[in-house]
Amino acid sequence: MKPLKIVMISSECVPFAKTGGLADVVGALPLTLKKLGHEAIVVLPLYSAINREKFKLESCLAPFGVWMGNCQEWCAVYKTDVAGFTAYFIEFHKYFDRFGYYHDAQLNDYTDNAQRFGFLSQAALQLCKALGFAPDIVHAHDWQAAPAMGYLKDWYGGDPVLGKAAGVLTIHNLSYQGVYPADSIPYLGIGWEHYHPDKYESWGRLNLLKGGIVSADMVSTVSPNYARETKTSELGCGLAPYLNNRGDTYWGILNGVDYGQWTPSSDKYLPAVYSAADLKGKAACKKALQEKFHLEQNPEVPIVGVVSRFAAQKGLDQLAEVIEGIVGDMKVQFAILGSGDKSLERFYGDLPRSFGGRIGTWIGYDEGLSHLIEAGSDFFIMPSIFEPCGLNQLYSLKYGTLPIVRATGGLDDSVVQYDEATGLGTGFKYWDATPSAIYFTVGWAVSTWYDRPAHYKAMQQTAMGQDFSWEKSAAVYVKLYQKALRRGD
Ligand code: ADP
Ligand code: GLC
Repeated sequence: MKPLKIVMISSECVPFAKTGGLADVVGALPLTLKKLGHEAIVVLPLYSAINREKFKLESCLAPFGVWMGNCQEWCAVYKTDVAGFTAYFIEFHKYFDRFGYYHDAQLNDYTDNAQRFGFLSQAALQLCKALGFAPDIVHAHDWQAAPAMGYLKDWYGGDPVLGKAAGVLTIHNLSYQGVYPADSIPYLGIGWEHYHPDKYESWGRLNLLKGGIVSADMVSTVSPNYARETKTSELGCGLAPYLNNRGDTYWGILNGVDYGQWTPSSDKYLPAVYSAADLKGKAACKKALQEKFHLEQNPEVPIVGVVSRFAAQKGLDQLAEVIEGIVGDMKVQFAILGSGDKSLERFYGDLPRSFGGRIGTWIGYDEGLSHLIEAGSDFFIMPSIFEPCGLNQLYSLKYGTLPIVRATGGLDDSVVQYDEATGLGTGFKYWDATPSAIYFTVGWAVSTWYDRPAHYKAMQQTAMGQDFSWEKSAAVYVKLYQKALRRGD
């Protein structure tokens, strides 16, 4: 098979810029594609928060003009190989020197997001031309890079560098579509003829993800179950008809885990490492977690971990309704790390005052603490209303921390329900998106810990032996790329 050249366009990529799982995926997939013999480069914005010294960013190319409609925007390009693949950064102060990647401190979306990320998409394609990098595949991630799909088809059909490239769009979360006023269309260079309900228009506004879904050669999302769910009116976020129209050109590919970063036997963030064969280090991590979160120092009491964006999707408002009842009725502790929604930050942030020793909360974003919670907890809860894939349940399995999840999207695909008769399974699942289902499922998990410890231990061993490495998923992406190329012919 001929090695493929792929350019990935993304608004996030580990280790440079991360707010969620998108960054983990874009930081890991290129590395695995490389192992499989392909070449993938990544293009992302040079946000002011990215540490240029730490990541050894070097200027590359002379000042670089990007055509946006009829106007040319001048930017600079930097690159680095520290992540094991070449990452290119588009420096454009007007758009990327901001407090946040997508919104201000009050969580208000920047009003020029369509321009910002349309610019990123166009700059990435024009960068390929400037570098003489003729990709087989342009792989766009989420709405921020979706405009590249339309540009590829509508602008670059006959281009000597980009003309033969096929477009692949991966949807990490259908509920974020990049919907903005249509007045940016001339600047984006989209052309009013493409602004209609079957392409870029949704209810009188510009919908960047929809344009991408219609224009890409292949579309994917991040688990087979979410691919099915998004084709229904319940979870299709208004785009189900367009995803159904794609037939067998819309795939669900489960995310993998970068076990280089997420393995308890080599995790550099942990006070002690451990493996399935020797769990002593996990007990040390639990002790450290109880100390850090001011929980009662007691190895016998199970800890339920939470690491999450505080967003409606994650169901933490439902957990909020029952968490006080849970710690009142059951002998269990919670270690919670997250940020986002201000009222949830206040609610969870205040809990330790009333439930000291039983609930510990850290409001903020902290990579090291997220690893400590994965390792030191006994259970990990994800009460998601919907979850395209979810990565923390995959990390939890590897860390022998049994997931308690709502059976939705990738959570349902990756966690095997506990069977009380046999002791088989890797976690605890519930279906009804209700606070009482959370209460009872946590109760089920906690009673398993106390009353059926042999089952808990057996499940822990099974969980730690699960393999969600990127190799398998990347091989499916290669198939997707090949199909995209055949369609593009
Ligand atoms: P999503 O992308 O929807 O947020 P995922 O489960 O796919 O959900 O990925 C979340 C990623 O972000 C995980 O790597 C998780 O550890 C990380 N994460 C989320 N919140 C925090 C936080 N407050 N501190 C550190 N890491 C976090
Ligand atoms: C999105 C989804 C999450 C998924 C991640 C990476 O942020 O919410 O479920 O794991 O993207 O694909």
